[in-house]
Amino acid sequence: MVKATIAVLPGDGIGPEVTSKAVAVLNKVAAKFGHDFVFNEAIMGGIAIDTTGDSCPPETIKTAEQSDAILLGAVGGPKWSDPTAPVRPEQGLLRIRKHFELFANLRPVKTYPALAQHTPLRADLLQNVDMLFVRELTGGIYFGPQQEQGNGDSAYDTELYTVPEVERVAHVAFRAAQGRSKKLASIDKANVMASMRLWRRTVVRVHEDYSDVELEHVLVDACAMYLMTRPASFDVLVASNMFGDILSDEASVLAGSLGMLPSASLGAGTFGLYEPIHGSAPDIAGQGKANPTGTILSAALLLRYSLGLEAEAKAVESAVEQVLESGARTADIAPRGGEYISTSEFTESVLAAL
Ligand code: IPM
Ligand code: MG
Repeated sequence: MVKATIAVLPGDGIGPEVTSKAVAVLNKVAAKFGHDFVFNEAIMGGIAIDTTGDSCPPETIKTAEQSDAILLGAVGGPKWSDPTAPVRPEQGLLRIRKHFELFANLRPVKTYPALAQHTPLRADLLQNVDMLFVRELTGGIYFGPQQEQGNGDSAYDTELYTVPEVERVAHVAFRAAQGRSKKLASIDKANVMASMRLWRRTVVRVHEDYSDVELEHVLVDACAMYLMTRPASFDVLVASNMFGDILSDEASVLAGSLGMLPSASLGAGTFGLYEPIHGSAPDIAGQGKANPTGTILSAALLLRYSLGLEAEAKAVESAVEQVLESGARTADIAPRGGEYISTSEFTESVLAAL
């Protein structure tokens, strides 16, 4: 029996809908496998700005600190989208990732045969697609010096990486590759950027500890193309914060929808932050149209990485797979003009499959 405290940060838009469904799945897992999960909710993002003026208030950090893991929905929305506003929902997310030093963001991408028809790509290209992005999450251009200058007619951001920052995420990626098919693609732009030459140099050095892993260096622009032309050739990919952000959205096309993909953000220990890679989708919020899969699969990653419950994680993943195979579809993965079920109905099927 595992006892765990989980901080739940629903956030904005469809965030509350999808996190409540993932919590239902975790409750079902607790009942079925005899675990004891306690959920503590806290505010984050736009809703936190409205309530406290701060996108990630101290009480939220405290709730998270007293937990074994965080389950997060999504943040942001038109109400807070003025890019000149001094306080923005996304800042809260970046702050919490940084506060807990969650430097390795794992984003598994796999295709489901049941959804092959739903992607714009040829079905034969999608066979055997099963990759893992390891995105650096607490460095690079997201956290380097930035400034708007003069009266707003120039601005800069800085892509800044240190050797230890690249080393630690590279170790995560090589270890992940060892547990899979022993292939790692390191994504960079070493032909142009100094920070990316440091990235490549460092990855090459870390590789010395993992001689059983085959390493290839792929320039980010070429990688963007290969993800569409030969996606099955990738296994583990390691990328900087921004390149990983961009490429993982692109890769979600392979899975049929952005709504399908989960993520785990990990630091040095077992504590982690789990969130779908999609955003708050304010246009469909509150309509029962959201796909809860990305968040439910994030809960599976939480079971796996923070709680060490591999069998439980697998049970959730196969329940989702089973539901997709049965033909159940949320709006985003329904055939054009075809029938779809609500967020709740989809979740009910997952619970039943569990
Ligand atoms: C993601 C999101 C975030 C990011 C935003 C909301 C700040 O796009 O998690 O991929 O860029 O990291
Ligand atoms: Mg993103």
